[in-house]
Amino acid sequence: MEFTTSHNRLLRVIIILCICSSLTLANGPGHRSSVIERKIDSLLSMMTLEEKVGQLVQVSGNFNDGSGRKTLTPEHIEMIRQGRVGSFLNVFGATATREIQTIAIEESRLKIPLLFGFDVIHGYLTTFPIPLAEASTWDPALIEKAERVAAVEATAAGIHWTFAPMVDIARDPRWGRIAEGAGEDPYLGSCVAAARVRGFQGEDLAAESSLMACAKHFAGYGGAEGGRDYNTADISERTLREVYLPPFRAAVDAGAGTLMSSFNEISGIPSTANVKLITNTLRGEWGFDGFVVSDWNSVGELINHGVATDPAEAAVLGLKAGVDMDMESYCYQETLATVVHDGRVSESELNEAVRRILQAKFRLGLFDNPYKNCDVKREQQDILTAEHRRMAREVAQHSIVLLKNEGHVLPLRKDLKSVAVIGPLADDAATPLGPWKQNGRPEDVVSVLSGIKAKLSDGTSVFHAEGCEVEGSSKPAIEEAAEIAKKVDAVIVVVGETADMSGEGASRSSLNLPGDQEELVKAMLAIGKPLVVVLMNGRPLAIPWIAANVPAIVETWFLGVECGNAVADVLFGDVNPSGKLPVTFPRAVGQLPVYYNHKNTGRPADDHQRNTSRYIDLPSTPLYPFGYGLSYTSISYSQFQLGSTTMEPGDSVVVSVVVKNTGNCQGEEVVQLYIRDEVGSVTRPVKELKAFQRISLAPGQSRQVSFTLTPEHLKFYDRSMRWSVEPGKFKVYVGPNSAEGLEGEFTYSSS
Ligand code: NOJ
Repeated sequence: MEFTTSHNRLLRVIIILCICSSLTLANGPGHRSSVIERKIDSLLSMMTLEEKVGQLVQVSGNFNDGSGRKTLTPEHIEMIRQGRVGSFLNVFGATATREIQTIAIEESRLKIPLLFGFDVIHGYLTTFPIPLAEASTWDPALIEKAERVAAVEATAAGIHWTFAPMVDIARDPRWGRIAEGAGEDPYLGSCVAAARVRGFQGEDLAAESSLMACAKHFAGYGGAEGGRDYNTADISERTLREVYLPPFRAAVDAGAGTLMSSFNEISGIPSTANVKLITNTLRGEWGFDGFVVSDWNSVGELINHGVATDPAEAAVLGLKAGVDMDMESYCYQETLATVVHDGRVSESELNEAVRRILQAKFRLGLFDNPYKNCDVKREQQDILTAEHRRMAREVAQHSIVLLKNEGHVLPLRKDLKSVAVIGPLADDAATPLGPWKQNGRPEDVVSVLSGIKAKLSDGTSVFHAEGCEVEGSSKPAIEEAAEIAKKVDAVIVVVGETADMSGEGASRSSLNLPGDQEELVKAMLAIGKPLVVVLMNGRPLAIPWIAANVPAIVETWFLGVECGNAVADVLFGDVNPSGKLPVTFPRAVGQLPVYYNHKNTGRPADDHQRNTSRYIDLPSTPLYPFGYGLSYTSISYSQFQLGSTTMEPGDSVVVSVVVKNTGNCQGEEVVQLYIRDEVGSVTRPVKELKAFQRISLAPGQSRQVSFTLTPEHLKFYDRSMRWSVEPGKFKVYVGPNSAEGLEGEFTYSSS
């Protein structure tokens, strides 16, 4: 379309009138402001077809140009000028984003601000523990604070939008992306999902430090067969709704601005082309009014899936399913205008997608101030501050799970004469950054060795040897480490996985400790000194030999920049560990899938009965159950009480226990409540987590902990797929993990 100069001037005035003064508008998702809608109508009426398509296009900036900053190509810049791109990912920095935004605002016809997205998965420069570790805190309030820090830092670096939280339920630890989520349970996963959304987005999306969230990957991505990334998922409607969807629903209810469609198919339909999932369930049933972005090239991959013949058909399928923005497949960019022209997509369908993306830009306040996140001063002041590091240390301390502590090997005394810190990960400052380290820098990380040295006085000699590599074979190095270990009072061995063994595209077929690391642990144990194994890994590992033989085992996952300090705090008793596993540890890879909320089957596992649902060569219990984690103190549960043994519609039943610290140090406990519906119109899981509380207890202190159960907690999808509660008996368990606890029973009746 050609424009005369006077035409251009008029247009400029209209645009300025149209986009300014939205400061007073309600900006959160769920608030469809009529003022915003009118502004969007007005913009849509001025946009060419190409400009509309442009808003739906997201491209990645060039990867690092060597200067440490991501840059754009001349082609990208031309796209901005022509209004043919709506969003970039992998572009950040206050200066770079200002330069790029300036092109959109000053050189494009309609001056629509660009949206900058980035994978801020567990912190920006202040790298926090990986999400699976954060979930081990069972502390949504703390997780929310961690994401607030991530949001403050990322928004100081020009970023508007994070591709997080990943809320995929993962029941197969071979799947490398288990590291990025909250584990296996829909209830814990929902609490964590909501907390992370609240933390990223803050109170008001338009605020300077609010980072728009993106709940991903919608949906069923964690159900990949065999735990192999990107693989097919075949999930029943019931399991989808009861297991995989609840955390997405929680994220939507918490106000998540966007969702990302997943790579996988479910029962034959790739998510990126799934009308039922995105349009009917997400938008229709749940009332989600944000926008949906595809995963990287997942629109284009509809061709590989075999549901589209070419990019045009892929674009039609994606858009009609409800995927508004195309990340990096270029199918929308190259074909949407054509398919609108030939009528395969209507202009109103296109407008709807454009509208949703413009709404997000309005809600973020970008039309009022497109440079709101381009403040160099804030970038210098607000990133990696002492307070942020303090927060990272606190979260790391709470993420650590004590798996075993036989004979009270831990905590170690600070006045030991000497200690050996052995293992390939002991002095590794890169690995604690974990997968999706993004801009995280090893030079900002405290390794375990450094943390221990900083903790101990000069009176303790600290020795170090790698002993072996994470992968590969190195017998002489093990012998050298053994010589060192013979001379000291206590041995700490730090073993596990490298950061790139989990995360995207990093599924493993084995869950063993890689390489010779178990040999190293055996050699250390043979010396006979007090021995602690510190695990660093992105998934549950199958470590039956270590679990049976090593007296003290500490799971640290990947703890981020404050790793070494937090580990030393726990090992030397300044912090009493209180993390609980958000995922089951199997005995062997062949036991997968193993998760606590399984069905009973017609022949429940009985290790003494051959023809029951079990393996003949393994106990049917896991190595460590969901919810498990020890403390340096001992905690007792007693006086289980039910306020009533009956419940009717509109009623509630109060469940209480007395939890006592029977040891001699301060401790925190996560008190967990599970239910079991004994008989239903469909089979129900043997246990389902319904509530938890984290409490703190002084030595000798006891507290009554109460939970209120209502009919809402008892609901499930019945035989007709209605979300309802059925009359009958319900068991209630309250305890320290999914395998132990006190129990009682009540009856629900509908009259
Ligand atoms: C692919 C990943 O699956 C997704 O989680 C991520 O957000 C995008 N790449 C962008 O980096």
